Amino acid sequence: MTRPLRLGVLTGGGDCPGLNALIRGLVRRGAHEFGHEFVGIENGYMGLCEPELVRPLGVEDTRGILPKGGTILGTSNRANPFAYALREGDHWVERDVSDRVLRRCEELGLDGLVTIGGDGTLSIGHRLAEKGLKVVGCPKTIDNDLSGTDQTFGFDTARLIVTEALDRLHSTAESHDRVMVVEIMGRHAGFLTLDSGIAGGADVILLPEIPYRVESIVEKIRRRATRRRSFSIIAISEGAFPEGGTLAVMEKAEDIPGRGVVRLGGAGKVCADLLARHIDAEIRVTVLGHLQRGGSPSAADRVLATRYGCKVLDLVRDGQWGHMVALRNNAIVAVPLSESRKERRVDPHGELVRFAKSMGIGFGD
Ligand code: F6P
Repeated sequence: MTRPLRLGVLTGGGDCPGLNALIRGLVRRGAHEFGHEFVGIENGYMGLCEPELVRPLGVEDTRGILPKGGTILGTSNRANPFAYALREGDHWVERDVSDRVLRRCEELGLDGLVTIGGDGTLSIGHRLAEKGLKVVGCPKTIDNDLSGTDQTFGFDTARLIVTEALDRLHSTAESHDRVMVVEIMGRHAGFLTLDSGIAGGADVILLPEIPYRVESIVEKIRRRATRRRSFSIIAISEGAFPEGGTLAVMEKAEDIPGRGVVRLGGAGKVCADLLARHIDAEIRVTVLGHLQRGGSPSAADRVLATRYGCKVLDLVRDGQWGHMVALRNNAIVAVPLSESRKERRVDPHGELVRFAKSMGIGFGD
């Protein structure tokens, strides 16, 4: 039996459905079974870099949060303690404040830190662990692009949202005989677009992993045209780009202090403009944007997040610091935090792409 500990908890990076379910599982099992005490750290790592951003996190705080989207702790994807954005005069500079984070954890009397996030947040956790902090990680993201785990929570809910959007766009596309281009999140990985494209019956699926040729999409759209109808649904990842072309970027990494990665956006418009040169049909672009991350988690994400939250306590009990919880072959296991640095991509020759192609879905290649 482990002695009661005092554990910090933070959620970092883009929010996703299921974060609150995880916090609930963690705090409830932690309190009931082990007598642990939790400290909620607000706005990701920012809460350890700035004063006044911590608060007690008890079982009472977890009441009623299971169906809630977002995170009760708040989050930030611009708070990297190794490149922390600070205002100096009229410009931003990035400073390494990781030693301050370690000191802060000591001042707070933390026996360990539970960090919940995607590749960025977990990689920072890994670097802090290398500096001696006791860290356990939990993988989340709607992008499902972490190689350490078979699935991240948040993905299932986003997939449902995108699938429903594609269903809804079908009826209006058909009525107006239009080509609908639907831009879907996922950064440089096409998992969300691939799964929801298949579930939502897209005619063309464009992924970051398969640069597209406009002629190939045009041919597919033309082949679909009958005497009466010629509508098409094109599901495109925000990270997809034409062969020989470049990523559609909204903000470059260097223009976003403390973030370190680009903000993607506009891939749908790029594709629509290219298509418009070749086809007469009306084309409309829908950018699903942050709708994909908002709202109540699916049952599957609630269960997965709860399993992750509860499993964290096993790692803490067994002293498996420097690890993260992960789903492997339907079991929740511990894997080294270093795994979070390895990104996962859709295999262009994998089963799902092959089956989709065999059904006539176009991939623009
Ligand atoms: O990583 C999750 C994600 O939603 C990506 O799919 C998307 O590119 C990015 O975050 C958007 O970030 P932000 O919330 O900063 O616009």
